[in-house]
Amino acid sequence: MKQILVLITLIEFVGVNLFCWTALAGSPNSTKTGIRLDTKWKQQVYSFAEQNVRHSIWGIAHSERNYQFAVDLASHEKLSIDKDILFAAAFLHDIGAIEPFRIQGVEHATRSVQVMEPLLKSFGLSDEKISKVREAILGHMYNAELIPEGLEAVLFHDADTLDFLGSIGLVRIVGLTDRHAWAPTLPGAIETLQGWTEELPRKLITQSAKVIAKKRIAELKGVMTSLQQYTFSGAAL
Ligand SMILES: [Fe+2]
Ligand SMILES: [Fe+2]
Repeated sequence: MKQILVLITLIEFVGVNLFCWTALAGSPNSTKTGIRLDTKWKQQVYSFAEQNVRHSIWGIAHSERNYQFAVDLASHEKLSIDKDILFAAAFLHDIGAIEPFRIQGVEHATRSVQVMEPLLKSFGLSDEKISKVREAILGHMYNAELIPEGLEAVLFHDADTLDFLGSIGLVRIVGLTDRHAWAPTLPGAIETLQGWTEELPRKLITQSAKVIAKKRIAELKGVMTSLQQYTFSGAAL
């Protein structure tokens, strides 16, 4: 009888532990938009991003969009790309603009590279891939000094630029009101957005992004026209 009880206890112990192990192993195998976390280093990057890339405008949701837009652009352009580069760039490219990683006086893309390189090295990513991620990060801004040339870097640059346009661009810039030079006031935010509808299409590199930008700008102009009507030509904005 005692032996049977020991056996039952042992079976329960193994069962409970197997359940716990499965739950732990259930650390997400994909991101919120369904990007597969199919390697250890991707899980590590995503886990790092979930904990540290926390910002309402350039946080992890922006990372998800940038990755997905860049992959879409590659598909429109019929380009064969290394999605690893896009993944790492997407989740780490703005870390240099976020506390406590941000350093006053250091441009955020440069700072992001300073954080990214040792991190990805410690996660086992090859030097060759890290070098491509570096290019994608340094060239991601529409006004970056470095004009990207590598395929992934070009797509990533266009994806990041598109995220300033359309309804998502509007939400992001308004979300910065009172806390960024782009949006010192609400009318100031709308003025910046207005400027982007002129400037950003010229900064796009791929044909597909230019087509998408046209639709997004039309969307923005519709909202801006309504805003003018609702706010007495901006006097009451
Ligand atoms: Fe950025
Ligand atoms: Fe960004």
